[in-house]
Amino acid sequence: MNWFNLLLARSLPLLPRGLIWRAAHRYIAGLSVEEAFETVRSLSRQGMKATLDILGEDVFEAPDARAACDAYCRLLARIAGENLPSGISIKLSQLGARFSEESAFQLAEETVRCAQIHGRFVRIDMEDSSLTALTLGIYRHLAGKYPNAGVALQAYLRRSAGDLDELLPLRPDIRLCKGIYVEPESKAFKDSEEIRRNFLLLLDKVLSHGGRAAVATHDPILVEQALERLRRLGPERERHEFQMLLGVGEALRPRILSAGCRLRIYIPFGPKWHAYSLRRLRENPRLAQYVLKDFLRWPGG
Ligand code: FDA
Repeated sequence: MNWFNLLLARSLPLLPRGLIWRAAHRYIAGLSVEEAFETVRSLSRQGMKATLDILGEDVFEAPDARAACDAYCRLLARIAGENLPSGISIKLSQLGARFSEESAFQLAEETVRCAQIHGRFVRIDMEDSSLTALTLGIYRHLAGKYPNAGVALQAYLRRSAGDLDELLPLRPDIRLCKGIYVEPESKAFKDSEEIRRNFLLLLDKVLSHGGRAAVATHDPILVEQALERLRRLGPERERHEFQMLLGVGEALRPRILSAGCRLRIYIPFGPKWHAYSLRRLRENPRLAQYVLKDFLRWPGG
């Protein structure tokens, strides 16, 4: 990242929320469940599946963690009631991981149990590296008991290959992504080629050990490489899928669908959109620059 983009990334949190929303709402289905469901239906008509994320993270009070779990359970009942082709994605920091491992553990299990009752899948997002070990520990526990749980692994983390080796005997369900949090070089690869190489190494391990892979990227090079690997698997490729974020990489969708692969879109919604939006804008310096230009024209900006 050049110094201008770095400065931009650092200043984004200081900008008015109205400006951030104007730029970032393309990444978010809306504030309500109804809006999120409308997005799921629209994507479904175009042949895609969904994973719904109730926005919110870094909860520090037990009642807030409990409320997040309850909200997910209500959401799961509505998804099933309307027979929507969607699972859910959860963050352990929303279930209390920042203040109590026990809370995250119990509420994650409750959410997965609830999803099982409703025949739905739960993906545990991977957050910053302070939560990696806990997230994998909780996933290991859940994977041994429930078939409807999966976890994300980040290709930029140096530890991920070793972490995956430990999970392989479980035939794990892994969403592979590059990784979005700011990590030091001691923990994360910084070179984009190295991250790509590690992504493909992790993908090969999942595919060759009977795991299930969700290839979560908008990088055309990785998409082509993954398509080639899945093509070689023949009919078995149907166990695996691609995933993309709402509002990102739409031009790549037809390539995946026309290759006969499943594509699931990550659909975040809800009033707590700010932290997620900042992460997306940081990955899109051009859009972030528009936000800054808007700010300079903003009354009082
Ligand atoms: P890269 O960053 O190289 O982007 C490839 C291309 O995509 C860019 O050239 C650009 O065209 C487009 N693009 C990417 N971001 C954009 C944006 N914000 N706006 C517009 N265009 C954009 N991370 C994590 O740490 N933990 C997690 O649990 C998850 N979960 C997750 C789920 C799903 C379904 C996806 C797709 C991604 C995640 N991620 C994640 C985020 C992931 O780690 C990564 O930060 C982004 O996907 C961007 O990386 P790409 O692989 O797309 O490559």
